[in-house]
Amino acid sequence: LTQPNLSGYKIIITAGPTREKIDPVRYITNHSSGKMGYAIAEEAVQAGAEVVLISGPVSLPAPMGVQLIRIESAEEMYEAVMAEYPNANLVIKTAAVADYRPKIAYDHKVKKKPGEEVLELERTKDILLELGKAKKQQILIGFAAETDHIADYAQAKLKKKNADMIVANNVKAEGAGFGTDTNIVTLFKRDGSSIELPLMSKQAVAAKIIEEASNLLRNEQK
Ligand code: PMT
Repeated sequence: LTQPNLSGYKIIITAGPTREKIDPVRYITNHSSGKMGYAIAEEAVQAGAEVVLISGPVSLPAPMGVQLIRIESAEEMYEAVMAEYPNANLVIKTAAVADYRPKIAYDHKVKKKPGEEVLELERTKDILLELGKAKKQQILIGFAAETDHIADYAQAKLKKKNADMIVANNVKAEGAGFGTDTNIVTLFKRDGSSIELPLMSKQAVAAKIIEEASNLLRNEQK
């Protein structure tokens, strides 16, 4: 087993949920705890990389040795990622980015009224897709949170997003996905190969992802 050596490489990792504002007291979000992304950041630091961790609101402490950029919304995550992208070697998009946000974000608390209320939503930017379009030297690793047809969706995402690897997790499986300390993932690569991992700690999954990322970076140089 060769220890991955990522010294000299700049790596962007996104983690956690995003928060999409309705008004000053309400927002839309999801169950991401940041555990998966923070574990990857720790492993990348261990491997000697320069790590920029772009994180939505989570209750985890900043891992030692990372540059932590805190953001709230998908739009803020997009801006932060794009600003760091030009001289990055690798991006790992672990964050659970909101696909929709309220069409209007009120700057005053919306008063309740009798009866039903409709909240209009609009799409956020697909950060992974934009990274894929703007890709030069960078290796791009995305995640896929699925509940079924995992292999098909992951392969489709690889192509559509111009990614080099997709880490697919079945978020319906016991011990996998949001909030847990463990995960069950399959790594899908561009050459059509895949690596199916058993239930492991998120830290061990992170180590495996960094090992594979290191291989991808080395192949790029050849
Ligand atoms: O944080 P934890 O509690 O540890 O949970 C980990 C996790 C379940 C959040 C993580 O393992 C995971 O699956 N992250 C991706 C969640 C997700 O948003 O999946 P998706 O299939 O909706 O998105 C696919 C990819 O596109 C992801 O890399 C995502 O970061 C990216 N994306 C999605 C929407 C968007 N607007 N922009 C994006 O870049």
